[in-house]
Amino acid sequence: MHLTLNLPTPETSLKSMAGCDLWLKRDDLIHPIVSGNKWRKLVGFVEQLPPSATVLTFGGAHSNHLAAAATCLQTQGHQGIFIIRGDELNPKSSPALHHCQAAGMHLIFISRTSFRQLREQHWQPSTRQQQAWQLPQDYQLLAEGGSGPHNSQGCQALWQELEQAGRPDHLWLAAGTGGTARGLLRAMPHDCPTHITLVSAVKGSHREAAQTQALADDKQIKLTWIDETYFGGFAKTNAQLQQAQLAFEAATGILLDPVYNAKVWWHLSQQPRPQQGKIVWLHTGGFRPQLIPEKI
Ligand SMILES: Cc1ncc(COP(=O)(O)O)c(C=O)c1O
Repeated sequence: MHLTLNLPTPETSLKSMAGCDLWLKRDDLIHPIVSGNKWRKLVGFVEQLPPSATVLTFGGAHSNHLAAAATCLQTQGHQGIFIIRGDELNPKSSPALHHCQAAGMHLIFISRTSFRQLREQHWQPSTRQQQAWQLPQDYQLLAEGGSGPHNSQGCQALWQELEQAGRPDHLWLAAGTGGTARGLLRAMPHDCPTHITLVSAVKGSHREAAQTQALADDKQIKLTWIDETYFGGFAKTNAQLQQAQLAFEAATGILLDPVYNAKVWWHLSQQPRPQQGKIVWLHTGGFRPQLIPEKI
């Protein structure tokens, strides 16, 4: 792949802010668009694609996944057919969609009901959809959020980096589908004493939580899943959260996305008692339109 990537990513100490041995693993620095968990999740998928493949993938108007997938596919000369949730939208509806179109991806807008049905059928399009979307015989399916067994490759490398920098006693990260967390759990050794805390950006994702917990139980790894019951659900915010994000950014000069990482910071900063030992917060990046250079 011909992307310029900043790997391995560094860990920055936040001890003076947090009052405990907290480190931020700067996966947001990997690439301006294919940043954070997007690279970790996509690398295993993109590297196994045959030349000039057609990839079918899915997402919402502000999807970090779609923006990252568009950059990866464009860089490697693949085609992308992107199914977008919301038939009222168009390529100008968001910077993410605009970026996908500019990268040469074919955007198809469908109703929220049809999108939900696709999710329920594990993203397998019906024969009618395959014809309407003009899919070739041998297209490659990539689930929403880029989650899947291929996540293991990038997460394996991530776990190795974490171990090499000194294995954390606690690892905090944001969760959406939980795919990144499950990739990490698969990479971690059985009985690993690192306790994982997941801050879900989605309210009530019980299926994802149960799936992730089952994997942790299987590997005898301690896991805590925090549901998004504090701010009202996905992409919801309030003045308290915004203040915490602005204060963090002002103190550190490190930007947070409001949907995922700002909420992790809020929970970390609200801990009644600091956790013992080395705590690592994985910065999972996020699509920041103002950071996109003219040419990638
Ligand atoms: C910036 C960011 N952090 C975290 C996540 C959650 O990742 P996962 O779906 O693997 O749990 C996402 C997913 O879309 C994301 O864009």
